[in-house]
Amino acid sequence: GETTKAKISGLTSLRSKRVRVSGWVHRLRSQKGIIFLILRDGTGYLQTVLSGRVSETYEALTLTLESSVELVGTLQAVPEGKTAPGGHELVVDYWKVLGAAPGGDEAFTNRLNEKSDPSIQADLRHLVIRGETSSSVLRLRAMLLRAFRDVYAKSDFLEVTPPCIVQTQVEGGATLFGFNYYGQNAYLTQSSQLYLETCLPALGNVFCVQESFRAENSHTRRHLSEYTHMEGEMAFVTFEELMSHIETLVCETVDALLADPVAAGIIQQLNPGFKSPARPFRRISYKEAIQWLNEHGIQHPEEDKDGNNVLDEAGKPKMVDHVVGDDIAEAAERQMTDIIGTPIFLHSFPAELKAFYMKRIPGDRGFTESCDLLMPNVGEIMGGSMRISDNEELLEAYKREGIDPKPYYWFTDQRKYGTCEHGGYGLGIERVLAWLANRYTVRECSLYPRWPGRATP
Ligand code: 4AD
Ligand code: MG
Repeated sequence: GETTKAKISGLTSLRSKRVRVSGWVHRLRSQKGIIFLILRDGTGYLQTVLSGRVSETYEALTLTLESSVELVGTLQAVPEGKTAPGGHELVVDYWKVLGAAPGGDEAFTNRLNEKSDPSIQADLRHLVIRGETSSSVLRLRAMLLRAFRDVYAKSDFLEVTPPCIVQTQVEGGATLFGFNYYGQNAYLTQSSQLYLETCLPALGNVFCVQESFRAENSHTRRHLSEYTHMEGEMAFVTFEELMSHIETLVCETVDALLADPVAAGIIQQLNPGFKSPARPFRRISYKEAIQWLNEHGIQHPEEDKDGNNVLDEAGKPKMVDHVVGDDIAEAAERQMTDIIGTPIFLHSFPAELKAFYMKRIPGDRGFTESCDLLMPNVGEIMGGSMRISDNEELLEAYKREGIDPKPYYWFTDQRKYGTCEHGGYGLGIERVLAWLANRYTVRECSLYPRWPGRATP
């Protein structure tokens, strides 16, 4: 009879039909001459059964995990009381190996055991991603990006693609990757923000999904050297409107994922009990946060002028209370976020702690109209602010930071040719995913993560 070529995700409508499916051998079990094979094709998993004539060939007896195969057979609903992905199984009557895998070697053991040694796993990430957990995280990542784009489309934001090769810094010179660009100095971009700002008068509100690069020598759970940065920029907004937009963007995206059976299934499996966050997000100003940390006994290691820890009599780092002006470091931020247990908008940071472009709070000019969004288990997933809109003020900001204004002429021009109140933000996609999928580190949330010393695979 007729055979339909199909993907596993599209099989439900083909019950009791003859189908042809190609994929990889995900699991394999042999019992009394019957082979039970779970096939994987990237769209899902399919239980298949090979018995009789088709299970007695040399190929069948030497079949290995991760071999690619083509299977042809009849799709049957699984009998009452049995479970299988999709509720059906393929009774195979013809099949062939397309590409045999060696089987039994360390690579496959590691693919199957996603909890093995981290450095071996990192080297073998090209095989590890075939595993159930890793591929679920990557599938959720794709669905997350799609959901974000859908929300942007509904809100009339236009997507642009700024360059990665740049000659300006955004978040401080210390974390720039520089290189020789036809004899000139150039950098890998830290943020596309400055370019998005130039798009406002041309295109209105804009966003981008672009790789950002940070030469951070920090080996933490949430730092990568290259990460996917989703940034948005809005014209003619107030700080309050900016924060409310960010809240809506995050919540509508999460709601769309939870309304999708596949995405919701992955979230439920990786992060049981996850719920859409309550709105409005709790808002805590930087000054209130300093007070909160002190009330909760959360201290930080005292540092000397060179940034080295001051030691106590026992030779341990001396812990001290926070004072206004201190950076709230990752450890303190994480403790606060985990105790509070809900999303937090931490806002109005001191100007000295923040980037040169941030707008000051009228009436409290030592502080800025800036906000970080903190999530339980991860901490900061987003950083944003209103921008300096006044030309003179921007020129002063360059001077204070020791930035040569020349390469920024195009950014400065923004303030000369019809300036406006505007603001924006950047979300680290890997951090958003670590929050949604409850991953221990952002390294699990990137296809091929980069951190100090690693650029392979
Ligand atoms: O807070 P950041 O440095 O802000 C900016 O770059 C702004 N120019 C964005 C803007 O306003 N358009 O970075 C924004 C976000 C952080 O909140 C974090 O989620 C992520 O980017 N991020 C990193 N993610 C992984 N590894 C790193 N090294 C990261 N650095 C920042
Ligand atoms: Mg930040």
